[in-house]
Amino acid sequence: MPVRVGVPRESVAGERRVATVPELLSRFERIGAEVTVEAGAGAGVFATDEDYSSQGATVGDRASALGADVVLKVAPPTDDEIALMKRGAVLVGFLSPLDTPGVATSLAARGVTGMAMELVPRISRAQTMDALSAMGSIGGYRAVLIAAEALPKFFPLLTTAAGTVKPASVLVLGAGVAGLQAIATARRLGARVSGYDIRDEVKEQVQSLGGRFVELDFETQASADAGGYATALAAEKAQRQAELLIPHIAAADVVITTALIPGRPAPLLVTEDAVAAMRPGSVIVDLAAPNGGNCAGTKSGQTVKLNGVTIFGPTNLPSEMSVHASEMYGRTLLALVSEFVKEGEVQLDFEDEIIAGSCVCHGGEIVNERVKSLVTT
Ligand code: NAI
Repeated sequence: MPVRVGVPRESVAGERRVATVPELLSRFERIGAEVTVEAGAGAGVFATDEDYSSQGATVGDRASALGADVVLKVAPPTDDEIALMKRGAVLVGFLSPLDTPGVATSLAARGVTGMAMELVPRISRAQTMDALSAMGSIGGYRAVLIAAEALPKFFPLLTTAAGTVKPASVLVLGAGVAGLQAIATARRLGARVSGYDIRDEVKEQVQSLGGRFVELDFETQASADAGGYATALAAEKAQRQAELLIPHIAAADVVITTALIPGRPAPLLVTEDAVAAMRPGSVIVDLAAPNGGNCAGTKSGQTVKLNGVTIFGPTNLPSEMSVHASEMYGRTLLALVSEFVKEGEVQLDFEDEIIAGSCVCHGGEIVNERVKSLVTT
């Protein structure tokens, strides 16, 4: 009996991605898996049921997709979805374990093994499974396009018969995966770009993309943990950082903010004073909006105007690029599934750091220590 892999239609409003695309189906066959796709699951990526069935998938109803041995999803499961999963099944997807640990509790109660794409360790062997990076780079790219469209100015320097137009200046706060993609995209559009991050080690990466690295006169030692992630600053330091950023923010036409600390509210980098110091007509795109925002005026999921500055708080930019986002995300899922579906069997090896690191719950219990501490406190 091959392993049955199920791909339900995403049910969260506004989610256009799907967990696998027809082009990837032949690779599931190679690992001994048979895929059941819920009818209509590919609508958001313009893939019809026939596109899936012609590549070997069975098209079925919601219960058969969610009742599979391995269920692949994009957004965290709803209670209704969890109720349709079977005991002993494995769910792989974004489970938002640190922000909504209740999902892990519900999965554990149902006896489902939850593998969270957010927790895949960022080691070289797991690079092909790095869904956060794949989606982060889409967010960074898209943020620049949003800003370019809203800014009442050109991005590039233009020399025309009507005179020379100065390039727009773009400041990117947080130069991780999303920030670096934003820097590269803004450069391609011809803007003058600066980047800032609390981790000094990204300086060369910013510069290699043609950006200027903003250095603040301020102690940033020990601001990254062993995994390379930023750690939160003490309140006093955070305030100093925000103050030192004001002149850089004031000089920018566009500010794109991407700063996140895993499992914590996003740091406040653009204060109300900083927004007030910007020229009217300027644009802020706050990619940290779902985590509380890096900017004082941000409203998650909304676009607001403050002193003539437009502040975007998008919550799901990858969904707006659903075709490539689903292709990329689907590949990261397939790479992780290929680690534990072998020769037509589910073989979860908890000695393997990728499996152990990604697993949130198994055998009716929450197994990730960080998530466990969040649900017990
Ligand atoms: P993220 O999305 O968690 O954070 C975005 C950026 O915000 C980070 O660069 C972080 O340093 C920065 N940030 C946080 N607080 C800040 C503050 N107060 N001021 C300014 N900047 C602040 O991070 P992301 O992009 O997912 O990854 C960050 C790092 O993780 C990478 O640069 C890398 O070191 C590591 N990584 C490793 C990978 C691998 O080894 N396969 C793959 C991807 C990332």
